[in-house]
Amino acid sequence: MKVLVVGNGGREHALAWKIAASPRLRQLYCLPGNPGMEELGECIPGDPEDVEAVARVAGRLKADLTVVGPEAPLVKGIAGAFASRGLRLFGPDRAGARLEGSKAWARELMARCGVPGPVHAVFADPGEAGEYLRALGGPAVVKADGLAAGKGVTVAGGPEEALAAVRAMMVERVHGEAGRRVVIEERLEGEELSVLALVDGERVRLLPSSQDHKRVADGDQGPNTGGMGAYAPAPACTADLAARIQASILEPVVAALREEGTPYRGILYAGLMLTRDGPRVLEYNVRSGDPETQVVLPLLASDFLDLAEAVLDGRLDRVDVRVRPQAAVCVVLASPGYPGGYPRGLPITGVDRAGRMPGVLVFHAGTAREEGRLVTAGGRVLGVTALGDTLEQAAERAYEAVAHVSFNGMHYRRDIARRALAGRLGR
Ligand code: AMP
Ligand code: GLY
Repeated sequence: MKVLVVGNGGREHALAWKIAASPRLRQLYCLPGNPGMEELGECIPGDPEDVEAVARVAGRLKADLTVVGPEAPLVKGIAGAFASRGLRLFGPDRAGARLEGSKAWARELMARCGVPGPVHAVFADPGEAGEYLRALGGPAVVKADGLAAGKGVTVAGGPEEALAAVRAMMVERVHGEAGRRVVIEERLEGEELSVLALVDGERVRLLPSSQDHKRVADGDQGPNTGGMGAYAPAPACTADLAARIQASILEPVVAALREEGTPYRGILYAGLMLTRDGPRVLEYNVRSGDPETQVVLPLLASDFLDLAEAVLDGRLDRVDVRVRPQAAVCVVLASPGYPGGYPRGLPITGVDRAGRMPGVLVFHAGTAREEGRLVTAGGRVLGVTALGDTLEQAAERAYEAVAHVSFNGMHYRRDIARRALAGRLGR
């Protein structure tokens, strides 16, 4: 098969790596890809969000399958652009992508399906949003309705901060049209869990559970980031809990979309809070997580291309989702200043040495090649993943590998998977 991977982050490098391991792959293309993906396939310049142009490229390459990493092209309807050309694409259509593209719509659908979530309300008027915040009293979360490059959520410490977020989103429009409406939610407490599933329009098959680490600093301190590391599987996600999540959180929305004539095909990601009253949905994402993909795919023993085809052909009941009985830990190495502003072009050393360690994979997230040298080019620069027979071994190995890599001002969390290792998360 000829396969095109769309995107250029750590998630897409992990997807490309997994696809490259398939005996069915003949040629891999990446658009635009990154220096890590360059070692696996041919990188073609282009903008993933220019969905018509991406479809033209896929047509010209005669790609048998295109796999989309990020959400923005999906929300922009890349699936439709491919379908109208008779091209195969792994990812939901525009209707399904609204689960991530409109947080208000997603909450409405969840309410209709009886999916457990926080107390919430949707507002198009900043005054009414303010009144609701005052009435809510306690800690609140303010979310821009639309896509805001991962920056549209404010977990407010108090009412002042929440009101400021409403003003910034709705009046100042810091996220543009995405903030025309906001969702205000009660702030849930508990342990977060990421559950990724393959969906073929009807059936749901879970991938290994994982946990992201959103805050920049150890002990979950400091501002939110795109994710500073992850581990899988999550000990908190017992077989019972996984079955419950599948039946009460994933299957109802998949059934609703199917009944509406817009069956969902691709990866569906439920971001959950494990509260005292059971799992609650924080958000759905319509693609794989980043960095979660960097720990989930290395644990997947099945051929990704077999699974992707089963998703597209509606026959997930006839494939095995085989998982290695191991654990994986990914530590994200970030640029100085991230998640705020950061410099680019800092030379990186030690990536090859780290990558040569057994059981270690170094995924590129924000790197570039300048005059033959590998340099930083983003906030999250690399994801260093290690596999182990236990979570402890995986974490130890990941940090051993991290020790080989360096660039000026590099920072990373030293406590990825630590709470799970301390056994404080069940099992
Ligand atoms: P994002 O992935 O950028 O949409 O950020 C969502 C993050 O905000 C989640 O991972 C949680 O850490 C936090 N969050 C979202 N909704 C809530 C909520 N209702 N209660 C508590 N935390 C939340
Ligand atoms: N790791 C969070 C996300 O992919 O949205």
